[in-house]
Amino acid sequence: MRIIRVKNYEELSRAAANIISAQVILKPDCVLGLATGSSPVGTYQQLIKWYQKGDLDFSHVTSVNLDEYVGLNPDHDQSYHYFMHHNLFDSINIHPEKINLPDGCAKDMAAECRRYDTLLRTLGVDLQLLGLGNNGHIGFNEPDEEFSKGTHVVTLTESTLEANKRFFESIDDVPKTAISMGTYDIMQAKRVLMVASGKAKAEAVKAAFFGPITPHMPASILQFHKDFTLVADEDALSLL
Ligand code: GLP
Repeated sequence: MRIIRVKNYEELSRAAANIISAQVILKPDCVLGLATGSSPVGTYQQLIKWYQKGDLDFSHVTSVNLDEYVGLNPDHDQSYHYFMHHNLFDSINIHPEKINLPDGCAKDMAAECRRYDTLLRTLGVDLQLLGLGNNGHIGFNEPDEEFSKGTHVVTLTESTLEANKRFFESIDDVPKTAISMGTYDIMQAKRVLMVASGKAKAEAVKAAFFGPITPHMPASILQFHKDFTLVADEDALSLL
């Protein structure tokens, strides 16, 4: 585990974008595992700037996203599909057919989970970007009695509904379930990069990376990953 300590969100975004850029430059046809939430938005903005300057080319890159709310149409402004297009894909030259997200509106969710797992195993993720839930979740792998394996449908915890209600009109509008890559899937990525910013993440950072490895703190499993980098700002590291 490698920790890169930065001052603030701006520095965090630049550092994370640098690591992703290096991956794209070294392997132009790499598979990037991508994340949503507010933490990676600055990273995406930085990548867009470098793309616009002509320093980056995403035309051979394949993307796979971590998760999606169940029941939100791709054009719903809080769907992760919409988020990714709005915050990254529409501003770079990635090919639409190389973009992959789980389908939160699939009629048969069990079949969709199987489809996504087969896809992940066929592609093989080179670099997985992650945010960190306030309760230690990664993707939508919530605290539980055991680590999740493959792609699955999750019932979101109160803490996640509470944290994500800021994006919706009220907490009642936050979907109660989501489809997410499993913890096993995430651990299969060759490299994992997490961005954590702000005081709200300090407890989870401390528990996940300086406490025991337990499914009650899903991100703690990353202590076992052979190439895991945490980029965190001073606030996120303030309890260490
Ligand atoms: C959501 C996403 C996670 C993300 C988390 C934290 O629940 N499913 O992938 O890491 O939010 O979001 P934020 O970065 O906005 O704190």
